[in-house]
Amino acid sequence: MHTAAPYSANPEGATAPAGAYVDPLPAIDWNAVDHACWWVPPGALSLATVPAFEAQAVAVRRRLSQLEYLHLVETGLVLEAFFVERLALLAERTPDADARSAYLREIREEAGHSLMFVELLRRSGAEPTIPRAGVRFARTLARRLTPGSALFWAMTIIGEELPARLTRAVEAGPDDVTMSRVVVAMARVHGADEAGHAAFARERCEEATARLPAWRRAAWSTVLAAWLAAFERYLLYPPAALYVRAGLVPGATWHARARTNPARRALAARLTGSTVSFLCRIGWSLREPRQK
Ligand SMILES: [Fe+2]
Ligand SMILES: [Fe+2]
Repeated sequence: MHTAAPYSANPEGATAPAGAYVDPLPAIDWNAVDHACWWVPPGALSLATVPAFEAQAVAVRRRLSQLEYLHLVETGLVLEAFFVERLALLAERTPDADARSAYLREIREEAGHSLMFVELLRRSGAEPTIPRAGVRFARTLARRLTPGSALFWAMTIIGEELPARLTRAVEAGPDDVTMSRVVVAMARVHGADEAGHAAFARERCEEATARLPAWRRAAWSTVLAAWLAAFERYLLYPPAALYVRAGLVPGATWHARARTNPARRALAARLTGSTVSFLCRIGWSLREPRQK
């Protein structure tokens, strides 16, 4: 049974000097990857509280929890690849040594996360579910963004904060099921690093947004709102193929059940709420957080 441990950047509880970088890959016992455990707590699943899902065998529900965690991991891998590419350009272009160091430290941490994701995907034996055509389209759009622009940082905040909050649900874990020790250790590393990344991105975004003319902020708000809606939909409502792999058929029916699940919508509002509030406060026009 997993008991939530205090916040620590160090995956398996080893001590390290404050602020020291800890490579997560060798610090995690990868042989402990276990399919008999939950990888996402039952209450944080897309179909949590849906009666037809709660009536399924525990093996099916647990399989969905593993696949939904892998969905988060695959999404993280794609986002981090985009982000590292852009951070490398920023590091190369800045004349400021402190800023260059900050960008390079973030690249190092994101590389550590991606290495964990790759290792878990390898150990899970699961086939990828992410649509490659969607990745190509997103990459084309991402490359049109000017690194360091207000829109770049605003999109980065959304891309970092939503998965980080979902990851925190894994890190906290419930006391009434056995959570995977590996997954909890991964979530702990990721949660600690992402808190720093989000603070950094918020600072950069606020500065860049303050320099934007109002007409441009209004125009770019439309793009930002579209990104938020698309990313929230993809991250929180996995594709039908994922449900099929969990043994839930037809996948489209289960996907539709997740889309209309009030518990999932409430979780989505909680995950996006403070991000949307922050962006609105600094001058972006987005829908206000939904009231429950
Ligand atoms: Fe990351
Ligand atoms: Fe990050």
